[in-house]
Amino acid sequence: MNKQAQIIAIAGGGSTYTAGIVKALLMKGEDFPVAEIRLYDIDKARQDKVAILVDYVVKTHAPQVKLIVTTEPEVAFSQADFVFAQIRVGQYKMRESDEKIPLRHGCVGQETCGAGGLAYGMRTIFPMIALIDFMERYAKATCWMLNYSNPAAIVADAVNRLRPNARVLNICDMPVAIQRNLANILGVNRYALDVEYFGLNHYGWFTSVKVDGEEKIPQLREHIQKFGMLTEKEVENACHSEPSWIKTFSNTQPLMQMFPEYIPNTYLQYYLMADEIVAHSNPDRTRANEVMENREKKMFDMIEQIRLSDGKVEDKFHVGVHGEFIADVAMSMAYDLRQKWLVIIPNNGLIKGLPDDAMVEVPALLGRDKVYPIQVGNVSHFYQGMLQQQLMSEKCLVDAALEGSYEKALQAFTLNKTIPSASVARQILDEMIEANKGYWPELK
Ligand code: NAD
Ligand code: G6P
Ligand code: MN
Repeated sequence: MNKQAQIIAIAGGGSTYTAGIVKALLMKGEDFPVAEIRLYDIDKARQDKVAILVDYVVKTHAPQVKLIVTTEPEVAFSQADFVFAQIRVGQYKMRESDEKIPLRHGCVGQETCGAGGLAYGMRTIFPMIALIDFMERYAKATCWMLNYSNPAAIVADAVNRLRPNARVLNICDMPVAIQRNLANILGVNRYALDVEYFGLNHYGWFTSVKVDGEEKIPQLREHIQKFGMLTEKEVENACHSEPSWIKTFSNTQPLMQMFPEYIPNTYLQYYLMADEIVAHSNPDRTRANEVMENREKKMFDMIEQIRLSDGKVEDKFHVGVHGEFIADVAMSMAYDLRQKWLVIIPNNGLIKGLPDDAMVEVPALLGRDKVYPIQVGNVSHFYQGMLQQQLMSEKCLVDAALEGSYEKALQAFTLNKTIPSASVARQILDEMIEANKGYWPELK
């Protein structure tokens, strides 16, 4: 097949993940030829720095690829085949506030879960809609946006309501990262796993993990109940290998002991072990601080090295599942390969009992113009109850953003399983409103 080389725009070009994504794309070589990579961001200074690393990656692996770095949407998106979106509205400074405010009230402080996720959602809905509108205005009519921008569950619901026909597919790398660890435990390549899964983003369960047609859940259950989601040796991959991620993967051990039926998404720790998570959190130093001191700092150090040596450094840059996954999804869609991946799509009866307009995370075959979902069916009361509660909390948040309603926002925070009462919800919400001035729509 003669493959048309792709134009790929990356929105949130200044992200810590940009270089990894670009490298993963370029590593596909002739399987997925790339003509141009366009970096787009609203923070020019940050993106220009990251572009030094991206330029180095391009020159090292595929110097024929044209790199454009811009803050102009028209330049970024014109005639694009794909837009990879990974914006962080408010950057790490606002992530810090999302994590620290709830902790001061004894609640989980996390980027995408609980009160922090709701606050991040309120900031992200309208900038995401603006990005989609740029894509629809400038890119090819066949262009797909693959969206990693968090909180993906809330973004997906808002986009489904405001731009129901837009070619946007929301994705998350956590299930793939979990599959990588499960594959390590089984001693196989992660691409050999065939999984079934249901839930919402950062809120779901693996119901089947097969290798060559053989069900591996019993073996995995036993392993996770003893060791968590880790091999007995260290997880080697750079992505998700820091102490807090190791702890997160270990926390699947008590979860799997209490609820052995299915394999949980790691993010369920924040809902099912909220008290322990809070007890082990430091309200003065959260994951945002770790990321700034580790991933972001390492990236800026690498950029400095490249700059000082004029690009003459050895490429030790690791490509993790994050970059590989978005490249795999794009490739399946570009060439209508209909490969099976977990993605976030409208329910439309896939999970019985959830509304049709719930955005659910399920397996689907990814084609050029269409995503072909795979039916899930009935889920029993425990899962149904958890899913409904989380879904309605997220839906109230989207209602609040679209209607500018304080009361709906309070309902969203009150319904969230990580928040114990309406009065705590109100205190957190009021502090979030203060902290998010200039980012949130006005709530009346
Ligand atoms: P980062 O802060 O390093 O990068 C985000 C970039 O987005 C920044 O350069 C920022 O200036 C830019 N940005 C913010 N608003 C923008 C807008 N309106 N238009 C264009 N650019 C804008 O953040 P990061 O840690 O690298 O993460 C990037 C995003 O990817 C976050 O939303 C994060 O939550 C998400 N993420 C998602 C997954 C997933 O599984 N879905 C996995 C990893 C990261
Ligand atoms: C996983 C999740 C992402 C999340 C990321 C945070 O990959 O799927 O949605 O953004 O973790 O990782 P960090 O290292 O920034 O805490
Ligand atoms: Mn995710």
